[in-house]
Amino acid sequence: MRVLGIETTCDETAAAIVGLGDDATDALSGTRRGVILANEVLSQIAQHSAYGGVVPEIAARAHVEVIDRLVARALDRAGVTLDELDGIAAAAGPGLVGGVIVGLTTAKALALVCGKPFIAVNHLEAHALTARMTDGVAFPYLLLLASGGHTQLVAVRGVGEYVKLGGTIDDAIGEAFDKVAKLLGLPYPGGPHVESAARVGDPLRFQLPRPMLGRPKPDFSLSGLKTALRIEAERIAPLSEQDVADLCAGFQSAVTDTVVDRTRVALRTFGDLAERPTALVAAGGVAANQTMRRGLQRLATEVGLKLVAPPVELCGDNGAMIAWAGIERLQLGLIDDLAAPARARWPLEETKAHR
Ligand code: KG4
Ligand code: ZN
Repeated sequence: MRVLGIETTCDETAAAIVGLGDDATDALSGTRRGVILANEVLSQIAQHSAYGGVVPEIAARAHVEVIDRLVARALDRAGVTLDELDGIAAAAGPGLVGGVIVGLTTAKALALVCGKPFIAVNHLEAHALTARMTDGVAFPYLLLLASGGHTQLVAVRGVGEYVKLGGTIDDAIGEAFDKVAKLLGLPYPGGPHVESAARVGDPLRFQLPRPMLGRPKPDFSLSGLKTALRIEAERIAPLSEQDVADLCAGFQSAVTDTVVDRTRVALRTFGDLAERPTALVAAGGVAANQTMRRGLQRLATEVGLKLVAPPVELCGDNGAMIAWAGIERLQLGLIDDLAAPARARWPLEETKAHR
């Protein structure tokens, strides 16, 4: 089985071809990994960086300019023709609707012309299922999904079966990284820059809060931490390079402590659902953060679970995760109508309801 996946929900234009591997990773469930045959990603960061964030109009136009060529390149690299595909998937949201329409319309047009099944993929579901493509993780598992727009802890029980255990009551974690970076004069997107500045920083120099620590429900709140950091930065301004590094290290360490604590509580909640997760899975752009991964690894070891975090290039937005979600859905016969709409908002728990 081979599927083309198209991603245009934010500031990455991406197209990929993924196939279904031969060997089952889990004899009981028969879970099979994915094989990435091509994974083309074009970032628009340079076009948005002057504005300190993604400009929806610019994003939509930039997707239109490159999407055809990118799909052609992915097919070429994979050595596959459109006729040889088993399905065509595109992210139908959630995201910036102008951009979503570009990828969605391209996928629909190709599906119509080639007479192939079309799959409208929820971008969050694609992040959520990536660990099955890379590591063949069997259901159920606990997912920490942390990206620029979303932060949630989810019990993943099957394709389209998601129970949200907790989420953020204000900023997403990636958004907090981006805002802190902006405040400290670092480029957009902030996450990778904060992480690299933190490498030479002292995480203990500033006393920053660990929001929500110990709360019984695994929710997040990042705005208090962001404000505390701003107050420290203003107190010692002007900032030297070392000050910026220390603030980044302090922030990253506070976020990691919070994430580990919240995930520990979510694992307990998961147990209350009378299930034991097969793994702890991290996904989304923030999952690329090495300090966060180390914190989650310590937690996983402590509770005797395997931590699965995709390779860094599959943490951020990409076409392979969309193609894989397409494969998962296609295997279950979940194909979509060409009238499937582009959605700005599309909560993970509502994915199944739209079939
Ligand atoms: O999943 P993603 O590529 O796009 C969305 O769906 O939002 O996530 C992008 C977010 C950005 O906020 C970015 O700053 C953050 O992920 N991010 C990171 C790192 N790499 C990307 N945050 C912390 N550390 C990183 N290394
Ligand atoms: Zn994403």
